[in-house]
Amino acid sequence: MKFFIDTANLAQIKEANDLGILDGVTTNPSLMAKENIKGHDAIMAHYKTICEIVDGPVSAEVFGTTFESIIEEGQKLAAIHENIVVKVPMIKDGIKAIKWFTDNNIPTNCTLVFSAGQAILAAKAGATYVSPFIGRIDDSNWDGVELIKQIVNIYNTQGFLTEVLAASIRTPLHIVKCAEAGADVCTCPLSSILGLLKHPLTDLGLQQFLNDASTMK
Ligand code: G3P
Repeated sequence: MKFFIDTANLAQIKEANDLGILDGVTTNPSLMAKENIKGHDAIMAHYKTICEIVDGPVSAEVFGTTFESIIEEGQKLAAIHENIVVKVPMIKDGIKAIKWFTDNNIPTNCTLVFSAGQAILAAKAGATYVSPFIGRIDDSNWDGVELIKQIVNIYNTQGFLTEVLAASIRTPLHIVKCAEAGADVCTCPLSSILGLLKHPLTDLGLQQFLNDASTMK
């Protein structure tokens, strides 16, 4: 399973990249707004900087919701860097646009996916990635990981090549469950990635080893 970081924060992207286990980055308009980036040129420059930090796919989301506006924005985003993946919402014009990008060799990430039916449409349109939002599904009293399992099963059964990118990750356990479910990619906040490191027995064991090591100096 590939690890992407789900943020537009450059310090966090650098920290995750320095770990050596980062495969890519995803952003969305909310994450970009959090970084207080204003205006078209600043947005484009920010994506370019992210692409210069991480050698892997970087999802940049369109703001438009009509076929024409998605195509126009997506082409501009794709021109920033060869690693840009155009992130498109799961709407009717979004599906049409994903098909257009597929036919024009521009990689896409179909976002805001909450059902297996939506994931089938994204795959039919040729999306490179499909992004089910598992944390938000859990928030609404459904089971996000079950949706990942269902989509992985459908894609394997049907031979779809679209990669299942588990998004809206909230905890380290989400990452473990997505790995078990067969997700191709997990996009996570830095806190969830770092949370994977933690176990109290590791801390206790290390303390004991350090204590014993100090007696041998
Ligand atoms: O990648 C989508 C993700 O950023 C949404 O996460 O926590 O806002 O549901 P969240």
